[in-house]
Amino acid sequence: MQESLLIPKIEKTSEKNFPLFGELANLEHEQIVFCSRPEAGLKAIIAIHNTTLGPALGGTRMWNYKSEADAVKDVLRLSRGMTYKAAISGLNLGGGKAVIIGDPQTDKNEQLFRAFGRFVDGLAGRYITAEDVGMTEKEMEWIFAETKYVTGIPKSLGGSGNPSPVTAYGVYMGIKAAAKQAFGSDSLNGRRIAIQGAGSVASHLARHLKSEHAELFISDIFSEKAERLAAEVGASVVTADEIYTLNVDIFSPCALGGVVNDDTIHHLNCHIIAGGANNILDDEKKHGELLREIGILYAPDYVINAGGIINIASEMEGYNEQQALEKTSRIYDTTIEIFKFAEENGVTTNVASNILAERRIAGVGRLGTIYSSKSHFSKRMGEMYLRDRA
Ligand SMILES: NC(=O)c1ccc[n+]([C@@H]2O[C@H](COP(=O)([O-])OP(=O)(O)OC[C@H]3O[C@@H](n4cnc5c(N)ncnc54)[C@H](O)[C@@H]3O)[C@@H](O)[C@H]2O)c1
Repeated sequence: MQESLLIPKIEKTSEKNFPLFGELANLEHEQIVFCSRPEAGLKAIIAIHNTTLGPALGGTRMWNYKSEADAVKDVLRLSRGMTYKAAISGLNLGGGKAVIIGDPQTDKNEQLFRAFGRFVDGLAGRYITAEDVGMTEKEMEWIFAETKYVTGIPKSLGGSGNPSPVTAYGVYMGIKAAAKQAFGSDSLNGRRIAIQGAGSVASHLARHLKSEHAELFISDIFSEKAERLAAEVGASVVTADEIYTLNVDIFSPCALGGVVNDDTIHHLNCHIIAGGANNILDDEKKHGELLREIGILYAPDYVINAGGIINIASEMEGYNEQQALEKTSRIYDTTIEIFKFAEENGVTTNVASNILAERRIAGVGRLGTIYSSKSHFSKRMGEMYLRDRA
């Protein structure tokens, strides 16, 4: 029989290879939106994980995924992480994330991002987007042309601009809290600190650490970046491999995720791991427990790198840099609280922060059972709705 030209042939994928609803149920997502606009080359997925605390906020990542299944897995994992990050940071926001499947070097065009902006707009504020890996201010402006549900927009458009300096400030606060816990003092004077990566977050972090006279070691896969930053802050440059084995007080991964893994964990020669990178532990459970066993204190990444989201959340209420920094400085107390909880309950620090985040979501979620004048509207977006109509 001749194949129909109107009915596209659908490749059969076994559920075993692509257990989408299994993943959704496991990670407890609320909604996944697949956005398609073939003539613009748009293939995007928006994942809304949890909106108990407020609208789902999380950046849009553009990446050349090896497969569509990889893109789905990434957006599910990242959006869930945003729920925990917002919750532990005391924000009235839920967790969401979007991925655009494509090569950020070659596949960008105005139509694609404006089409994506329309899909975001169609969610009517359930999802608010921002910049993430593979995106620049230019694409954010295209998205912003189609929807107001964008934050972290350029300063020239009235936004808060690049969040990296605030992220770095939060990481610095988290490092100090970890030093207090491990050494009894949060002074970093003379502490040996290894920073992996010499990018935006790492550079701002290195300046804070320098101001406290820490002894710094820096690596980057682009050695010229490491050398430039090292020259500025008086650090030593080490190779990308050496950074794992250095005898230091603190290892601060500020490049990519998954760097504490089966290959690296037994080479680590530090007392604390506290960095800006997302998903530092390759396997949260396994490597979290191993770190505890070998006596390395781990400051959970999503807790101490939350300055960026705190900054862009502040933009939604009328940006105030001082307020954003003040809120970010509370990362110190939150991190200490997590360490204490972990100690008292005999759990790893990453499990402790998950439990505290879940408690806040459950506790605030239960408030919905009390009638208030705003109860007709869904929490924060209700307020936005009223404000927009005023
Ligand atoms: N920018 C933010 O506000 C923010 C917020 C939260 C989390 N983060 C996370 O922090 C990390 C750094 O973000 P950024 O904005 O500074 O990115 P960036 O791209 O400016 O810097 C990353 C740097 O890491 C280097 N690098 C990559 N692999 C490396 C390796 N194996 N060894 C050494 N260096 C390596 C890159 O060359 C680059 O210089 C990322 O994991 C990001 O997801 C960033």
